Amino acid sequence: MQKVTLHIAYGAGTLAELAAGAALLDADEQARAARFRRETDRMLYCAAHVLLRQALSQQAEPAPAAWRFGQSPRGRPEYDAGICPGSPRLRFNLTHTPGRVCCALTRQLPVGVDAECRRGLRDARALAQRFFAADEAAAIAAARLAGSAAEALTFQSIWTLKEAYVKALGLGLSMGLDRFAFRLTGGAPAQIRLHQGPDAAHPAAHWRCVLLHLDGGRCTLAAAVPAPKGARFRVLLHGGDAAPEPMLAGATAETVLLPAQRIGPPSEGL
Ligand SMILES: CC(C)(COP(=O)(O)OP(=O)(O)OC[C@H]1O[C@@H](n2cnc3c(N)ncnc32)[C@H](O)[C@@H]1OP(=O)(O)O)[C@@H](O)C(=O)NCCC(=O)NCCS
Repeated sequence: MQKVTLHIAYGAGTLAELAAGAALLDADEQARAARFRRETDRMLYCAAHVLLRQALSQQAEPAPAAWRFGQSPRGRPEYDAGICPGSPRLRFNLTHTPGRVCCALTRQLPVGVDAECRRGLRDARALAQRFFAADEAAAIAAARLAGSAAEALTFQSIWTLKEAYVKALGLGLSMGLDRFAFRLTGGAPAQIRLHQGPDAAHPAAHWRCVLLHLDGGRCTLAAAVPAPKGARFRVLLHGGDAAPEPMLAGATAETVLLPAQRIGPPSEGL
């Protein structure tokens, strides 16, 4: 059983507090942070990278400021293996969207995470028709019968799952988004199935995903991991006045929601 820890930080106070720890970032990160034109983008970037460093240090020896990062050939961020030679290797991915940042951690298996906030429906329809698999575009069109809110939520859920999957594979825009498809089925919690996938190393049936609807459904957050023996998702919430509401969760995943104000010593290893 693969353990996946998701740290979600949200709320202006929490994000500002994390961003205030930007001295932990290395020279590359600080240079990137300085290049953002908008202060809100700079703040989100800093908050995400401080959160990531703290989360990694919760699971391994190096202190938050000691982590050094590089990239896979396709641009996926990884830490420099020399800094932490222990095995099995920690894997991570992060996402930022207005109002929240999230990082996902696993051991050995790659993980992808994505968060999206609601956007215009006209945009959504056009994107789905142009880029999604036919089954997914049909599911979004079917959801339209239940109203525009259902349509928007279905679109955003599929989109978020697709991005989490692409990020777990370590691919960027190079991946054709119509080459794989997610199926959301009704019920509580809804089932999430990746029913076709182009990744020969990890067949569709091995993927475990979780989908959370946060902030009253305005924000969707998904994580994906290729775990043939199943996955357990631990969701740690940092800050904010109200707890996010998970309305959907992958039926194949055991999902535990834990409130946590700060990243402290690990209560459970990965
Ligand atoms: C790389 C990509 C996945 C980032 O997604 P995004 O929604 O723009 O941004 P997110 O906040 O979710 O994620 C950004 C983080 O992903 C990570 N990332 C960057 N390249 C990555 C890659 N190749 N694989 C996995 N993770 C990657 C980085 O940590 C980055 O944060 P950082 O720049 O602060 O270090 C995106 O640029 C991309 O290529 N998307 C393809 C999917 C697509 O086309 N979607 C359109 C509608 S479905």
